[in-house]
Amino acid sequence: MPTTPSKFRDLASVRTIAVIGAGAIGSGWATYFLAKGFDVVVADPSPDAEARSRAYVAHAWPDMLAIGYTEAGSVPEARLRYVRSPAEAAGTADFIQENAPENRELKHTLLAEIDAAAPPDVIIASSTSGILPSELQRACRHPGRLVVGHPFNPPSHIPLVEVVGGQQTDPAAVAWSVDFYRYIGKYPIVLRREMVAHLANRLQAALIREAIYCLDEGVASADDIDAAVRMGPGLRWAFMGWQMIFRLAGSEGGTAYALDHMAKEIDGWFDSLGDVRLTPEVQKKLVDAGEEIARGRPAGEWIEFRDRKVTALLRLLHEEPRYPGD
Ligand SMILES: NC(=O)c1ccc[n+]([C@@H]2O[C@H](COP(=O)([O-])OP(=O)(O)OC[C@H]3O[C@@H](n4cnc5c(N)ncnc54)[C@H](O)[C@@H]3O)[C@@H](O)[C@H]2O)c1
Repeated sequence: MPTTPSKFRDLASVRTIAVIGAGAIGSGWATYFLAKGFDVVVADPSPDAEARSRAYVAHAWPDMLAIGYTEAGSVPEARLRYVRSPAEAAGTADFIQENAPENRELKHTLLAEIDAAAPPDVIIASSTSGILPSELQRACRHPGRLVVGHPFNPPSHIPLVEVVGGQQTDPAAVAWSVDFYRYIGKYPIVLRREMVAHLANRLQAALIREAIYCLDEGVASADDIDAAVRMGPGLRWAFMGWQMIFRLAGSEGGTAYALDHMAKEIDGWFDSLGDVRLTPEVQKKLVDAGEEIARGRPAGEWIEFRDRKVTALLRLLHEEPRYPGD
């Protein structure tokens, strides 16, 4: 456990976590924090949020056991509490994870309310998929403790968290958040400067844009465009990033050898990449492709399939060090 003194609450003293907003992301975080032994207080104004969220936690719990995130055989209900008021949850927490809808005005008001209620040594992390932390912290009285802690769906399962500070974020808050997420078993990465959509969604956007371009141009079927990733490079990406893959393309000569042979060609690939916009026509094609790929099965069935596969994959990845020599 990191022991560096910090103006923020001692990591080891964190007992209660406030989860603000209990949709897919908030419920996923609540499940994970519970699995890691914290008391969790969830705040959501919607009257059906508690029932939906409790159902999520119960459903995901067997995966938490299977992956090894917990040894508790059943959901520790006594450590999970639901309230309507974000301020009430924030006022009693040692760490706050905000997961309200991706709406700028709503988040501004909500974060100001949370910030006013939480003691100033408590870190507030927002799950926002793409809003800059500088923008989110504007309405806060203590902007220095606000970071983005961006997870991936489902956050109950997926380890990555992108940590991003804004112009007013104290570097110690970024350091604290990285230490905290790592301490609880997540895999935090840090952005050295904020960018719209952070890092991983930018990478996804680059790939998605080209996939949509190829779909729009009729280069291949919707199924084949998906298979081009999931049956190919996607299999390696779970355990090896593109930089290593590129290095291996050059065999013992490494990246330098690969570039010697390929740089000109690859520049040509870059030049030929498509530019596409989500016009109504393109959106219609995407909707049709989504239906074709779903094969008439409801979203719930696909979510179950996703979580089962992610669980199996994480079990496999946990069997060995992340990288040789680690
Ligand atoms: N869905 C994803 O794949 C994904 C992935 C990573 C991050 N995120 C981010 O996480 C956040 C939540 O996304 P989601 O998909 O769970 O959304 P969602 O719409 O499923 O859930 C949002 C929840 O917030 C509640 N809410 C509304 N107003 C609130 C308020 N004032 N205070 C507290 N709760 C309030 C709603 O009742 C709802 O239960 C967004 O910022 C989103 O960008 C989403």
